[in-house]
Amino acid sequence: MDEIPPGIEYLIKTLPGLATPALITYLVSHAARTFLELHIPAWLLWTGVSLSLPIWFTASVLFIDWKDHWDAAKLGAALAPRLKDPYPGGLRTLKKGAKLFRNAPIGSAIATFTAETGTRTFNTRTLFQNRIITDEPEHLQAILATQFDDHDKGPEIGYLLHPLLGTGVFNSDGDMWKFHRTLTRPFFARDRLSSISHFSTFTTQFDLAYSSLSSRFKEGHPVDFQEVAARFTLGCALEILLGWRGVDDSTLKYPFYVNQALGSQDTGDEWEYTWNGQDPVTMSQFVPAFVRAQYVTAHRMRYSVHWPLTEFWEDKLKKPMKVVHGFIDGIVKQALERKKEIFSEQSNDDKLEEEEEETLLESLVKETEEILDPIILRDEIMNMVVAGRDTTACLLTFSIYMLADHPHVLKKLRDEILENIGPNKIPTFDDLKGMKYLRAVLNETLRLFPPVPFNVRRTNKPVVWPAKSGKPYYIPARSRTPISVYTMQRRKDLWGLDDQFSHSRPYKALDFDPDRFIDDRLHKYLVPNPFIYLPFNAGPRICLGQQFAYNEASFFLVRLLQEFQSISLVPEAIPLASRPPREWAETDKKAGATRREKIWVKSHFTMYAQDGLWVALRKAKTSEEF
Ligand code: HEM
Ligand SMILES: *[C@@H]1O[C@H](CO)[C@@H](O)[C@H](O)[C@H]1NC(C)=O
Repeated sequence: MDEIPPGIEYLIKTLPGLATPALITYLVSHAARTFLELHIPAWLLWTGVSLSLPIWFTASVLFIDWKDHWDAAKLGAALAPRLKDPYPGGLRTLKKGAKLFRNAPIGSAIATFTAETGTRTFNTRTLFQNRIITDEPEHLQAILATQFDDHDKGPEIGYLLHPLLGTGVFNSDGDMWKFHRTLTRPFFARDRLSSISHFSTFTTQFDLAYSSLSSRFKEGHPVDFQEVAARFTLGCALEILLGWRGVDDSTLKYPFYVNQALGSQDTGDEWEYTWNGQDPVTMSQFVPAFVRAQYVTAHRMRYSVHWPLTEFWEDKLKKPMKVVHGFIDGIVKQALERKKEIFSEQSNDDKLEEEEEETLLESLVKETEEILDPIILRDEIMNMVVAGRDTTACLLTFSIYMLADHPHVLKKLRDEILENIGPNKIPTFDDLKGMKYLRAVLNETLRLFPPVPFNVRRTNKPVVWPAKSGKPYYIPARSRTPISVYTMQRRKDLWGLDDQFSHSRPYKALDFDPDRFIDDRLHKYLVPNPFIYLPFNAGPRICLGQQFAYNEASFFLVRLLQEFQSISLVPEAIPLASRPPREWAETDKKAGATRREKIWVKSHFTMYAQDGLWVALRKAKTSEEF
């Protein structure tokens, strides 16, 4: 083996630190014996040495606790309420949290802890670390906007995301983040996003999706729309960001019963290295490797810096990242070669005039004139592809889920499309601008199913968060501050108590109801308090791709509903073990839901439907409309 296994490396790094108190105890006792001629019996010495670590640890925990209280009091602030836990290190909380995470609907852990503490900002204090979880708009505003400089992603997130993303806009802080943000932002300028080339990519990619959908329906099988959406958004990202024009050699998967009949096994977590390390990486090699790399990274996030203990002998990211980098590097190399060509031919200035249509990669190649570092380019691209693919696919997937489940919304949306654009015109940027109901459908989907449901920041110095009433909260330096957009955007007190607003129209926070973004509720809830709705985050790190995503998703939905007139879910196509457990009906009812989820909603970095969103679509009868 030519490299040290991750577990061994972890132990080599960690053990000396853990042994220090014992070593100090030993040396001090030894010195006392030798120089002060104290009589310390061997049993006492060895007891002292073995207890030194727990004693030192307990003392430092107690000291920090005391200091936090003291510092809070000095500022006239309070500490965020702590979850009660009879065990040290928050073991009960950890165990309960893990169980709810595995077996209960998404967000249940936070809802349960909120109910236990009676407050929306609380400290779970697990593993002796402050984890101050919040879904309070004032506090999200402080973290993301008003006190932006005091809350960053922190070195731990940077370290965990580094193998996947290198150094890029997503996983850096401070000046490094500013550098990357400045480098990539011009690409997302409004005039670029409305450019014809983007819309012609959307057209090509939609046509691919359409033909794979149609042929599958012709065979009489439902499709996993989540997979269709992910291919569409990846295709758009690769083409628009990188100028990639390859072929997708992969095929849509069949429902599990077809696979069973064919005798093949399709288990999502399994992944096999199929690249020979030389030929250009194909789509059917890249996509599973890319999915696998994100999966392993998400898994590591849960164990934080201790992840090597779960991948003791083998770094599970190595192989998939080799394939992913092989794919991206190939494209980067081509772009760099193109640039060299352009340089050598460049006596006429004509080439520079094409700026409007350039890809992100091309604009980066230009920006990094001096450096021309393929690794920086690759990192930047990885950041964009990760940021843009699953998020937008998630928006599309859950829009389809909601439209299938709310035929009256689907009908209204289709009417808007046919009225504004017609049954077969390819929509342009200007066409999309006027589609108010379409935007409301997307907004409402992003409210109930935010693609990034949870996020995390940490304080880089002691801070004070404002309070609506009572004392403000003192948040010690280096506290983690997870934010839960998901539970916030479903809060009844923020989005409409059952029938709080009007007796004739009972508006419920958990209902899918796009009109809340159009009628008087918009001015009642969202306009005065914009921080109750943060699917794209807020403040200086707000999503760069928001408009891009709205364009892409709008285009897809318009084209889809021009071609198809109804959508139905096919829950039988979800493997049994991946269907939402029956017992959840009770939980849902208690939470006030009028609707029971027909898919198992989960989240790694982004939200997804476990084992897919299986649907069947019915073709539009164009003749019917005229
Ligand atoms: C519906 C689709 C999308 C949603 C819901 C979404 C949501 C978000 C969220 C919540 C963040 C903050 C992440 C964090 O700070 O940890 C973010 C950041 C970002 N997003 Fe998006 N995003 C979407 C689509 C896109 C697309 C299509 C692109 C690019 C093509 C993109 C590019 C970025 C970038 C570059 C950042 C990092 C900004 C920074 O840290 O300064 N996003 N997005
Ligand atoms: C959609 O949400 C955004 C907030 O992100 C809001 O500014 C906009 O007015 C909403 N539009 C519609 C039509 O729902």
